[in-house]
Amino acid sequence: MKALVLAGGSGTRLRPITHTSAKQLVPIANKPVLFYGLEAIADAGIKDVGIVVGETAAEIREAVGDGSAFGLDVTYIAQPEPLGLAHAVLIAREYLGDEDFLMYLGDNFIVGGIAPLVDEFRVHAPDAQLMLTRVKNPGAYGVATLSADGRVVALAEKPERPESDLAVVGAYLFTPVVHEAVRAIAPSDRGELEITDALQWLLDRGRDVRPTVVTGYWKDTGNVEDMLEANRCVLEILEPAVEGVVSADSQLIGRVRVCAGAEVRGSRIVGPALIGPGSVVTDSYVGPSTSIAEHCRITDSEIEFSIVLGHSSITGVRRVDASLIGCHVEVAPAPRVPSSHRFVLGDHSKIRISS
Ligand code: DAU
Repeated sequence: MKALVLAGGSGTRLRPITHTSAKQLVPIANKPVLFYGLEAIADAGIKDVGIVVGETAAEIREAVGDGSAFGLDVTYIAQPEPLGLAHAVLIAREYLGDEDFLMYLGDNFIVGGIAPLVDEFRVHAPDAQLMLTRVKNPGAYGVATLSADGRVVALAEKPERPESDLAVVGAYLFTPVVHEAVRAIAPSDRGELEITDALQWLLDRGRDVRPTVVTGYWKDTGNVEDMLEANRCVLEILEPAVEGVVSADSQLIGRVRVCAGAEVRGSRIVGPALIGPGSVVTDSYVGPSTSIAEHCRITDSEIEFSIVLGHSSITGVRRVDASLIGCHVEVAPAPRVPSSHRFVLGDHSKIRISS
């Protein structure tokens, strides 16, 4: 079985905070979201991976290379324009051949990986297998309607009035019959060939589309709260380790990883927390659910429930909380603004100045 990873797209949904324009490279616990997907694919025993790339191809190639770091054999498939998920399948036809394949959306983060999906597909051999999860805002996703006995009966892409709260997660398994479907459908109102429409096409022809309902899912929505939450989830299962240097007057409590080349001096780190390679934490407090990326400086400061990307510094700031700080950022106290007061005060005046 091959995998088709979708890491194209126009890169227009940029967040101001990322150092990269490819949303698939947004870091969670100091690792690009795409890497979790590639690791899950390798864990599922798949080796051959086609990565669909668009405008941000150079960044994706630079980050993933030939895939050998993941134990994968990666082939890049250029998509000239982001014409939809089903369009990506269309252009990958030759690469995919006549095998079953996994399609994985590179901006999705699936806690627990894809093994349950692949297992169900292998056992039941349906025409397609979907992953679904309950969400609060189904209108932002593909939405599935299930029958009383748990079969998929209908699918809709970002419906205004969702019929259920079951969102389609970005991991799908297909048999080659999907190629017929992606050729048959027409572009949607937003001008894309929707994979949801291809799946509906299969349902309309009596094909078996099976659901696997999972919990623990995140998608890049450009929303800081979601990203902090995904980061928190990953840190909860962080393997504690000290690969760097921790001074005797420092305290590490709970799940803390101090990566190689990192230093912690005179500080208290309360896990789960991650101090990235080459970062230095001095006379500071780093609290739970915090990821500090590589080559940062945290000095005389307090920070918790936050993400700090590479090469940033925080100096003399108490306290930073629920924050997302990009690369090469400097955070420091503002210099005191010199203030002056000009008075004409009559005899016996009493005034109070707040300073
Ligand atoms: O994340 C799950 C959702 O993904 C599903 O619930 C929806 O049914 C499905 O249509 C899709 O919705 P989005 O509109 O949010 O997909 P997005 O445009 O974010 O693209 C998903 C990934 O696929 C992302 O890594 C970019 C990549 N992509 C997207 C398009 C449109 C491509 O590689 N080529 C494309 O043409």
